[in-house]
Amino acid sequence: MRADYTSILADISERIKQRDFQTARNADYIPALAAVPCDRFAMVIRHVNGAEFAIGDADIPFSIQSVSKVFALVLALRSCGDDLWQAVRREPSGSAFNSLILLEQEEGIPRNPFINAGAIRVCDMISSRFANPDRSVAEFLGRLCKNPEIRADNEVYLSEDQHGNRNRAIAYLMKSFGKLDNPVESVVRAYFKQCAITMSARELARATLFLANQGVGIEGSEVLSPSEARRINALMLTCGMYDGVGDFAFSVGIPAKSGVGGAIIGVIPNEFSVCVWSPRLDSRGNSAPGIAALEILTDAIGRSVF
Ligand code: DON
Repeated sequence: MRADYTSILADISERIKQRDFQTARNADYIPALAAVPCDRFAMVIRHVNGAEFAIGDADIPFSIQSVSKVFALVLALRSCGDDLWQAVRREPSGSAFNSLILLEQEEGIPRNPFINAGAIRVCDMISSRFANPDRSVAEFLGRLCKNPEIRADNEVYLSEDQHGNRNRAIAYLMKSFGKLDNPVESVVRAYFKQCAITMSARELARATLFLANQGVGIEGSEVLSPSEARRINALMLTCGMYDGVGDFAFSVGIPAKSGVGGAIIGVIPNEFSVCVWSPRLDSRGNSAPGIAALEILTDAIGRSVF
């Protein structure tokens, strides 16, 4: 039986409003993110049959942050192919997204493309292949959601640039092991700009559809092959929520990727892509209302990838 997504989303929104997320807070290590009203909430489902369902602040743009890492990885894979896996591994890290510990132990090779170290290395590979790496991820996202206006927000970019010493440390550590091809400052700049891309929940749900739809995007053209799309979903399932990935698989059970701007994208393969956005983060840097909303969603439809 087809789920009634309109009433499921209305129910989720009501239940999220009634829950207390006071202990969860906006990211403040990037000061521009701390200024976003913390009770914003949006959820958008894009079905593979073309139907779209939305609730809340679905058209308000926000900073996509680490959600960009999925699209940067796809862009890099499209140009480097499987060579990329010589540079970045595919194992969950079990530590914070910005941790340096494993990077030192594992001689500058990042555990996966979704922790900061892995995403910076992917950005390095994009920098070697695209004339304008700063713009390439934004333009790719613009094509995927059919909005050519998608851009990085300069204020968010500068805010992270001024407080980006930990990411610089990660990049310099990789460079010291000879694992970064381009100059640290230019790679880190491209990485911060990629994280500062601004999109709405509706745009992100649309851009994510290809991962639910055997690699085919909203325009009907192939973004990735079906087997490559399955592999990205496997990486999101095992690495997309950082050291919260086990709890998330247990309580929600879908491939997903979070960002410290408060967004989470996810998919149920062959059914739909979903984006939920709400800025209050739990201790692992994942949106607390976002996780709660996705848990209600998979409970309501009685489905997960398990
Ligand atoms: O590099 C950073 O710290 C941020 N630009 C992105 C981190 C992030 O979104 C992690 N997500 N939960």
